[in-house]
Amino acid sequence: MQAPNSNQPVVYPLFSSPVYTRVLETFDIPDISSLEFTNRLPTGGTHSFLTSTDKHILDKSEFAYIREIITREVNTYAKGTLCINKRIEFYITNSWININRPGDQCPLHNHNNSLISGVLYLKAPDKSGDLYFYRDVLSLVPFPPSLDLETDSQNIFNCKNFSIKPKIYQICLFPSVTMHSVAVNLSSEERWCLPFNVYARGDIGGMHELHLK
Ligand SMILES: [Fe+2]
Repeated sequence: MQAPNSNQPVVYPLFSSPVYTRVLETFDIPDISSLEFTNRLPTGGTHSFLTSTDKHILDKSEFAYIREIITREVNTYAKGTLCINKRIEFYITNSWININRPGDQCPLHNHNNSLISGVLYLKAPDKSGDLYFYRDVLSLVPFPPSLDLETDSQNIFNCKNFSIKPKIYQICLFPSVTMHSVAVNLSSEERWCLPFNVYARGDIGGMHELHLK
């Protein structure tokens, strides 16, 4: 990390939740008309949006080109942004398609049994639901939750939530522990997205080190 070279203050957003997003080159939007969708949860109950019953959608041969696009971006995030060693391979564990109809939304959640999660937008009309990320409720920074000081404006250092307005062909990657939700689809059209989870394998723990505090 370079030292500042002027007398202006420099603030480093240390130990952040790095959210990666990129609007990709256009690609053929897959035909999803033959897929089966449900709003039933495996544990019972329902949610408002529709989700494909197939939770390994990227294993289908007709989705191979989408898997290639997503894998490339995951590697850019994991190896380029996070600088994870090349001995570690990141692979997609599950993937599905969500359809948010007008009025649908997705409540606050995170993704278990996953390290990196992401979403690729296949259809995202204006006002069809922003993606919101939330600071952990038990986060101790910048101040512990027992002290909730009012702020005059929100920025990357103090915000409790941060939203992204999705566009078609856009991908978003984030640590799976990051809480997130999708706002109500206020448009008159459907919003289609392809979420996925990523895990790591390879030479993990190859370098056992003593971490002194
Ligand atoms: Fe999610």
